[in-house]
Amino acid sequence: MRPVRITKTVGEYLLAPGALAHLGEVLRGRADGQDDRVLYLIDHYFRGGKLIERLPLKPADAILYVDTADEPTTDGIDALVRRVRQNPMPKAVVGIGGGATLDTAKAVSNLLTNDGAAADYQGWDLVSRPGVFKIGVPTVSGTGAEASRTCVMMNHARNLKLGMNSDHTVFDRLVLDPDLTATVPRDQYFFTGMDTYIHCVESLSGRYRHAFADACSDQALRLCRAVFLCEDMRSAANRERLMVASFLGGSAIGNSYVGLVHPFSAGLSMVLHTHHCVSNCIVMNVMDEFYPSATEEFRRMAAAQGVAVPRGLCRQLSEQQYRALYEATIVHAKPLTNALGDGFRDVLSFDKVREIFRMM
Ligand SMILES: [Fe+2]
Repeated sequence: MRPVRITKTVGEYLLAPGALAHLGEVLRGRADGQDDRVLYLIDHYFRGGKLIERLPLKPADAILYVDTADEPTTDGIDALVRRVRQNPMPKAVVGIGGGATLDTAKAVSNLLTNDGAAADYQGWDLVSRPGVFKIGVPTVSGTGAEASRTCVMMNHARNLKLGMNSDHTVFDRLVLDPDLTATVPRDQYFFTGMDTYIHCVESLSGRYRHAFADACSDQALRLCRAVFLCEDMRSAANRERLMVASFLGGSAIGNSYVGLVHPFSAGLSMVLHTHHCVSNCIVMNVMDEFYPSATEEFRRMAAAQGVAVPRGLCRQLSEQQYRALYEATIVHAKPLTNALGDGFRDVLSFDKVREIFRMM
């Protein structure tokens, strides 16, 4: 029998070019009193920039910049939470940035109301209390972090990349402003957008089926094709399309699972420290055996946009590194089972996994 559970999705969102100007309204009723502290967690890229001047800041509010040079770690999240706890509890947490920043905001919000450390909550449904009211403002489209029920963190002590998968991780409100993605560099725009394409391909190819997830994924794929197979993927219309595709793709994942690409990508991120979205693309580029038509389409999209996917990354690694890559990949039992069934370890022997990594 298929598992039955109530699904939590983002309840409220504001989608429009220029939507950021309405953040004050989005906070209304939650953190709009003079003493209601709002904690802004913002990608360090925006430090000192124009975006900060546009926020409805009050004296009680605080801004913390999130260093996104590396992906969020459990230790990094714990350090942020300790800093926030030195001041009065915020009434709302607003995350402004890409997937790493949004995930950081979700994790901090949850840990402010739940005891213990970030690592204690890596897994499924371990968060018992709702976090602080949280608002997500994505500034690049594709990870689906704005919609998903997870926040991915690297746990270096355990060689594990895993999120807090929980209903309490879902943002309460979103501000979806496609104007904010206008300045994203081409390569990053493509790699991040492809995260949605890959989520949906993996989800639709999996053994586990869910009609809502399928419908979201179908539509998100259609939008991705419209964006990435046309000439200007960054036109105003395409930025809005991709923002919606990302939201739909992230919503789909709440009811389904990813497949092969994400576990291999997590291996790359853990061992070679490549970022999530570029790692996904590096993996997708060698998935002919498992996702033949999607791999071909992926290459056509990269060619249409003139984006070069990095290659040669894993050709000459030590046996110890291949072993670490294997371990950090095979640990993701849920998506691998979704892709290959219970016998996924028989298909993905150490030799096979090493061969796949070598092709990258
Ligand atoms: Fe992803």
